[in-house]
Amino acid sequence: METSLTTDPEEAAAFIRGGGIVAFPTETVYGLGANVFAERAVAKIFEAKRRPADNPLIAHIGDASQIDELSNDVPASARVLIDEFFPGPLTVVVKKASRVPLIATAGLETIGIRMPRHDLARAFLFACGTPVVAPSANISGRPSPTTWQAVLDDLDGRIDCILQGEATAIGLESTVVDCTGAVPCVLRPGAISIEDLRRVVPEIEAFSGDTSKAAASPGMLHKHYSPRAKVVVVNQVSEAAEGDEAAFIGIGEPSGRFGRMAVCRSAEEYARRVFAFFRECDQAGIGVIYCECVEETGIGRALMDRLRRAAAG
Ligand code: TXA
Ligand code: MG
Repeated sequence: METSLTTDPEEAAAFIRGGGIVAFPTETVYGLGANVFAERAVAKIFEAKRRPADNPLIAHIGDASQIDELSNDVPASARVLIDEFFPGPLTVVVKKASRVPLIATAGLETIGIRMPRHDLARAFLFACGTPVVAPSANISGRPSPTTWQAVLDDLDGRIDCILQGEATAIGLESTVVDCTGAVPCVLRPGAISIEDLRRVVPEIEAFSGDTSKAAASPGMLHKHYSPRAKVVVVNQVSEAAEGDEAAFIGIGEPSGRFGRMAVCRSAEEYARRVFAFFRECDQAGIGVIYCECVEETGIGRALMDRLRRAAAG
């Protein structure tokens, strides 16, 4: 299939309305969308990404009124989070309505819902006129795409259209909070930090980092965020071994010479740049990428989660 490129949200939405799959920008990473109620279209997402069938998708909405199309059971904790953080980089998991097809949720009776805070994404979702399920728009296991060019690298010829926007502002995927239990808990850390969440829901459980919550969030078990190069997380800048085939990303400035290097001014900048840096290193034939640890507060917690997973992959 030929992949159309456009900057027009109406043109991109026409593919969704016709049962196609479309990559679009958000404030976190680019997503690969389909109409949540079109089972054939949702199946195409799994095929195009080579995504394991047990990994559930997040439903994206342009307007809060669309929550009712997805769930008839939004508990008080979810309401509070929605009021406070929608639109934004937060996904709430609630019981799904029966009309939401099981293929969208990978067989789960729950669904993740998110309203992006991004003008082009919202114009696109509005024009689609339906909630749109969208995983990150990469081949499964690869670093999430933060530019439309990264989407094209992975999915050219495999999807109907790419809605071209700017590079994404946050660079890591949304915070996922499970609101179906007695106490809400963070399944995936993101830009909305545990500190932010606790301001409005003090009892919320932090992301534990273990996989005992795997049944609730099967996607967490899969290989993730991995460049072809080996990823090594270092505590100190000085632990990174220089060389033309080595790369470094972090906040400190290493003294050695590296084939590729990204020195960031903050954890936010580090988060924004890391996935694109991984892809750039692969294109440059880098063998090992040293990633400096950051403090696990704010977005630092999400960043360390992604770095550890990339290193494990
Ligand atoms: O920022 C984001 O969330 C991006 C953009 C495109 O919105 N999307 C994204 O989707 O990161 P994806 O598919 O790469 O990650 C979705 C993850 C799943 O792997 C799973 O861990 C969790 O969200 N998830 C989704 N639905 C769930 C559910 N019903 N129950 C538990 N976890 C769920
Ligand atoms: Mg993903």
